[in-house]
Amino acid sequence: MSKNGTVAGMDIHGTLGKLEGAGNIFLPRKAAVLLANDDTPIEKRLTLRLEDDAPFEFSPGQFIEVSLFGYGEIPVGLASSPTRQRSFDIVVRAVGRVSKAIHGLHGGDTLHVRGPYGNGFDLDALRGKNVLIIAGGLGLAPTRSLIQYILDKRDEFKRFTLFYGTRDPNTLLFPEDLEEWRESDKVEYFETVDRATGPWKGNVGVVTTLFQKTKLEPGTKVVVCGPPIMFKFVLRELDSLAVPHQDIYLDVERRMKCGVGKCGHCQINDKYTCTDGPVFTFAELEKLPEAF
Ligand SMILES: Cc1cc2nc3c(=O)[nH]c(=O)nc-3n(C[C@H](O)[C@H](O)[C@H](O)COP(=O)(O)OP(=O)(O)OC[C@H]3O[C@@H](n4cnc5c(N)ncnc54)[C@H](O)[C@@H]3O)c2cc1C
Ligand code: FES
Repeated sequence: MSKNGTVAGMDIHGTLGKLEGAGNIFLPRKAAVLLANDDTPIEKRLTLRLEDDAPFEFSPGQFIEVSLFGYGEIPVGLASSPTRQRSFDIVVRAVGRVSKAIHGLHGGDTLHVRGPYGNGFDLDALRGKNVLIIAGGLGLAPTRSLIQYILDKRDEFKRFTLFYGTRDPNTLLFPEDLEEWRESDKVEYFETVDRATGPWKGNVGVVTTLFQKTKLEPGTKVVVCGPPIMFKFVLRELDSLAVPHQDIYLDVERRMKCGVGKCGHCQINDKYTCTDGPVFTFAELEKLPEAF
């Protein structure tokens, strides 16, 4: 879907008249599960490939609706970069009916997807700038798409810093990526856990403790994705560092159903999170009383 709200060339804000045939915006596409990995005890990473082999173009920060017949459909962020095409990753946390059913899938199984939806991160605004990404818990999944994108197009961005915080070492996602980022000279990577367990030798403390490890340069664009409680503390810290609110990008989750601006489930004041978001600047969100 484009930023002006069109899906496959039709106006999604128009009538629901075109629901039959190829123009049906709710028609899902079949996808094969190439790999299914239990990254953590509650989070499964799936690598998917569309069976129709038609192009699947998306931008970091967009999401898809994933469905399993007999169970239902849920919105899930795309967790790999469009620069690494032919297949794509998602991470699903088992919380309820649909997500738990998705956890039962293995390599060779199939599910259905529709999308991509949402605006994604504003790559034009980030290009040529210092970028700091702050990810908490499952928030690393949608931001991994942007992380891979920046790493693959490293020359287009200036200084690149990544903060990642989780509850404990057992809840760290993408273990192979973390190994790579710890060694990489393309990203300044800092990680922390709230509670150390086992052989963990790294930082212990909430994600905001990582601000002490490095100095934020003026003009840095900051991308934040994580649980609402993390937003509160990170935004307070960014305010103390005088980061302008229009330079802070927040990936916001709301209850979604249709994903295409029809049902109103995801509304924050006059904004639809599914089409106007899920990425908003803090400057935009602070004008919406229902956002926080
Ligand atoms: C844009 C967007 C991107 C998302 N990306 C991911 C992702 O990458 N990986 C992932 O695992 N989840 C993601 N989610 C959340 C995911 O959609 C919900 O966890 C899912 O809809 C739960 O459905 P269920 O049938 O498994 O659980 P349900 O039986 O519907 O609910 C079980 C529990 O989950 C809570 N819940 C339900 N929906 C949501 C929601 N939208 N947000 C938060 N809590 C919810 C309920 O309050 C309840 O406590 C995303 C949500 C949005 C809106
Ligand atoms: S999810 Fe239906 S309008 Fe946003």
